[in-house]
Amino acid sequence: MESMKAVRIHQYGGPEVLVFDDAPRPVPGLGEVLIKVHAAGVNPVDWKIRAGYMKEFRPYTFPLILGWDLSGVVEAIGPGAGKFKVGDEVYSRPDISRNGAYAEYIAVKESEAAFKPRLIDHIHAAAIPLACLTAWQAIFDTAGLSAGQKILIHAAAGGVGSFAVQLAKWKDAYVIGTASGRNQSFLRDMGVDEPIDYEKMRFEDLVHDVDVVFDTIGGDIQKRSWMVLKKGGILVSIAASPKAEEAARGGVRQAFIFMTPNGSELTEIAGLVDSGKLKPIVETVLPLADARRAHELSQTGHTRGKIVLRVT
Ligand SMILES: NC(=O)c1ccc[n+]([C@@H]2O[C@H](COP(=O)([O-])OP(=O)(O)OC[C@H]3O[C@@H](n4cnc5c(N)ncnc54)[C@H](OP(=O)(O)O)[C@@H]3O)[C@@H](O)[C@H]2O)c1
Repeated sequence: MESMKAVRIHQYGGPEVLVFDDAPRPVPGLGEVLIKVHAAGVNPVDWKIRAGYMKEFRPYTFPLILGWDLSGVVEAIGPGAGKFKVGDEVYSRPDISRNGAYAEYIAVKESEAAFKPRLIDHIHAAAIPLACLTAWQAIFDTAGLSAGQKILIHAAAGGVGSFAVQLAKWKDAYVIGTASGRNQSFLRDMGVDEPIDYEKMRFEDLVHDVDVVFDTIGGDIQKRSWMVLKKGGILVSIAASPKAEEAARGGVRQAFIFMTPNGSELTEIAGLVDSGKLKPIVETVLPLADARRAHELSQTGHTRGKIVLRVT
């Protein structure tokens, strides 16, 4: 069996359980392609899984390769797969129940991959799939955001938020976004119509009658968000399941989503990137072997845009 370098965990725990290891190189199964990973995006779910926060409903066996965001080059084609050929540049958010992309190679279902945007490098492409698909599925597929509507995006400077802002502006929506003082001009540069500094102001004192709240934080932020919606509006959360009774009380709607891999939406997103309408924001690039530092940074909860690991 051929081997490869990978960052794995052999048990749940803090950033110190990440080990730069030799691991077996995967073989593509039915309908899969083997991808030589050039860059892997880092997301909060990576350290939540590492810490064991999701073990009740998502049991894993060890050793486990983390990281479910990647850009790379097709190395081999599995039986029954025909969408790509060897040498194609692709990006993907692979199945989170399997080994991830903090590795030199990964096997993914071809339905989970798409041609990567042509005009950006692998580092920037790897920043896109998980966060951008999440934003897309929350504000378009679930909330049905349309031109002229008003949306409040919490944590607008983060990985998911920075894509949500740009997608909402592309749809010609009116965008209100929250971030700390240090990110106010960043929000304005991305096109946010009304940036709110949560360190100085309470958003519910400034915002009212929005069509959509995109809740990326949960807890108290979610509770305070009901009152800013207009009747019939919708709160979509990716952080904590909203209570149906609270929505009903205010005459609004609610939804919780867990994003699903989707190659065709990734193809549409690649088109937006190549036409200059969408830009991944990468704050930090680290070598694969520094995955521990990447997790420590992500865990601060104050990443601007994305953190990406350089693999090749
Ligand atoms: N359900 C799903 O399918 C799904 C998918 C993706 C992500 N998620 C979850 O969604 C959450 C967000 O993900 P992410 O990748 O965007 O995280 P992230 O990139 O780590 O978010 C960091 C951002 O949060 C902002 N922030 C922190 N506290 C804030 C506050 N009180 N008000 C406004 N902004 C605040 C920070 O801005 P400042 O530095 O300015 O404070 C920073 O820019 C995570 O919990 C993640 O696990 C769920």
